[in-house]
Amino acid sequence: SDPDQLQDFCVADLNATTTFLNGFPCKPVSQVSSSDFFFVGFHKEGDTNNIFGVGVTAGNVLSFPGLNTLGLSMNRVDFSPGGVNPLHSHPRATEAGIIIMGKVLVGFISTSNVYYSKVLDEGNMFVIPKGLVHFQKNVGPGKAIILTSFNSQLPGAVVLPTTLFASNPEIPNDVLATNFQADETVINSIKSKFGSA
Ligand code: GLV
Ligand code: MN
Repeated sequence: SDPDQLQDFCVADLNATTTFLNGFPCKPVSQVSSSDFFFVGFHKEGDTNNIFGVGVTAGNVLSFPGLNTLGLSMNRVDFSPGGVNPLHSHPRATEAGIIIMGKVLVGFISTSNVYYSKVLDEGNMFVIPKGLVHFQKNVGPGKAIILTSFNSQLPGAVVLPTTLFASNPEIPNDVLATNFQADETVINSIKSKFGSA
């Protein structure tokens, strides 16, 4: 749900150090070429060798500057068996996705605290309303792949486990202990799993 563009395109000059209004300045049209409108990045598997077993390849304005001002972007998300794209929300976009390979549990929680979820097979589509906390888990026997799309060039991701337990500087342990009604040793134990932010 980015604002509408005011011209055909505005390929981002990511290195500009001059004026920034909301997004990135355009590079001069004389320097724009076909390659600005094609992103070669979703052909390879993302690295799932991490504690979550997930690899997100982002095709957003930062990796694909041609998206600047156009109000959309996509991700490729790879899952190892049992892998989870951790609980997160996108402050600037609704998300739609399709299962490309495997069997995936997709869930989100509304602001009324209702959990909506379904196990999806290849070819099925889902939607995550803007800003709501959601996750995907690979529940099939092998790897899984989903493609996601966003109505923002840069949807942003607030990833709950790392936001809460691996921020820099840290959220004080007593604050987290009260929030989660857990002993500070439990908080420390969780923090230790994520290393220092
Ligand atoms: C999946 O939830 C994604 O944000 O790509
Ligand atoms: Mn998401």
